[in-house]
Amino acid sequence: MLRGRVAGVVFRGVVPARTCALLAERFWASPARRARGTDAPGYYLGAYHYHKTTEDYLAETAEFRGALDAVLDMPDDPLTRLNQGLSEALAAEGVQFRLASHGGREASRAIMRSWHGQSEYALAPHEDLGQCTEPKQADFEIQRAAEHQIVALNMCLDNGAGGRLAVWNIRPDEASRHRLGLHYTGSPYPLDSLAGIEVAWLEVHPGDVYLFNGAHVHAVEPETSVETRRITLSGILGFIDENTVVSWT
Ligand SMILES: [Fe+2]
Repeated sequence: MLRGRVAGVVFRGVVPARTCALLAERFWASPARRARGTDAPGYYLGAYHYHKTTEDYLAETAEFRGALDAVLDMPDDPLTRLNQGLSEALAAEGVQFRLASHGGREASRAIMRSWHGQSEYALAPHEDLGQCTEPKQADFEIQRAAEHQIVALNMCLDNGAGGRLAVWNIRPDEASRHRLGLHYTGSPYPLDSLAGIEVAWLEVHPGDVYLFNGAHVHAVEPETSVETRRITLSGILGFIDENTVVSWT
């Protein structure tokens, strides 16, 4: 995925049910959990870099760190397990895997999210590449990942009926992003701009770990029940040079 040979991969049921339940319970109970506004309605725990200065992102990362660590504090937490496996696999190829950093401060190791959008999608169609060209983050090393593959990592901790991931078979180029006014955000793609483009629907269940090329336009389907429960633990990964892969949120 990191080398762009495949568009996505799903590991079914790899996070034990009791781990998912505990993480979900802690997410809802956390006093640090915040509501996000109309750009992407829902709740989150952890900082996101989208549309922020590097400084603000790293400051928010520091603010959330204790709460996120408290939620993930368990033996064999799934994120540490995945990161260890990835570190070993990349080390065998002479590649270092680490958190993205700037001025001695590190990016968040994860963000937990529950999307509650009530229109056609719970999270509107977007891609994760546009946000990596934000001028306010021009000093941040993650922007070098835009020259490689942007890999979106998600672990499903809870989901009701529906709540699928939609991935369109298109990676918009810079000219298209500019034309749609989405050059530094990559969000939201108007539905008519996606008409006629092949779309894959991925069912995700608690315990599934799925990664996909975030440069493809993707969206989250609303759940069919009124009680929205879908929660993911997420991050973004990418090469920034031939010997280094970093992650951020
Ligand atoms: Fe995304």
